[in-house]
Amino acid sequence: MASEFSERLSAERLQAALNERPFQFFETVSSTNDVARAWALEDAPHGAVVIAELQTAGRGRFGRTWQAPSGTALLFSALLRPSLAVPTTRYTMAAAVSVRSALLDLLKLDASDIKLKWPNDVCLHDRKVCGILIEPLWRGALLEALIVGIGVNVRVPFDDPELAARAINLEPFCPSQVDRALLLADILKRLEYWSARVEGLALFQAWRAALSTLGQRVQVTDVGTGRVIAVGRALDVDEDGALLVRAEDGRIQPVFAGEVTLQQFKAE
Ligand code: BTN
Repeated sequence: MASEFSERLSAERLQAALNERPFQFFETVSSTNDVARAWALEDAPHGAVVIAELQTAGRGRFGRTWQAPSGTALLFSALLRPSLAVPTTRYTMAAAVSVRSALLDLLKLDASDIKLKWPNDVCLHDRKVCGILIEPLWRGALLEALIVGIGVNVRVPFDDPELAARAINLEPFCPSQVDRALLLADILKRLEYWSARVEGLALFQAWRAALSTLGQRVQVTDVGTGRVIAVGRALDVDEDGALLVRAEDGRIQPVFAGEVTLQQFKAE
């Protein structure tokens, strides 16, 4: 009987795609971010990557769980050793821009088909195709490493209708089965490029131009407390990644973190 998915990752396939890049591959792991963190505490170099077919404790932003059946997503954590005193939000930009450009290249779609929802959700036709979770590793006051956890929906069965309305897979947009090892190698190559240029204007401009959130009426919520942080028009972003929201009274509020939901503009 044919297996459900013929495109399985293996250490051999990853070795061929990643060349010299140090990596660890697991069929099953708790969370690739946890393994990358433990590896970072040892000797993992900048650019090392941890990949898994299945996570039993995958997590997303705001402490949410992140689940996908084995072999249906591209799940990995890249380890960066930041050498510059730049805000970590700059690495958020680098990761989002890297994934977006790799997906645009793979799917040969128009740039407007893949956009970013502030700060770093990658959306295909306005539905989330990739989530990014960046976790810092501190040693005292020193930023030792950044763990860039990335989950790309490739062929995930979205059984929950509510999830199916918000999420999307990339494979239906490809002429053939997605080769996740090659996609991984491509994303990592772009991440290497942008993470070496985190300070530059080009990264900020690429990120800003890809944001679908700008110009929209938004509500930003602190997910931990449920408190609404800002409501208004998302005017712009600043170079450190803050979302600038103009409230009805005209005040412009910088928002540094939170969950954005789009709202309808009121009829004039
Ligand atoms: C989000 O909430 O949008 C971020 C989701 C990040 C999921 C990825 S999957 C690989 C890595 N390991 C994890 O536990 N999380 C990230």
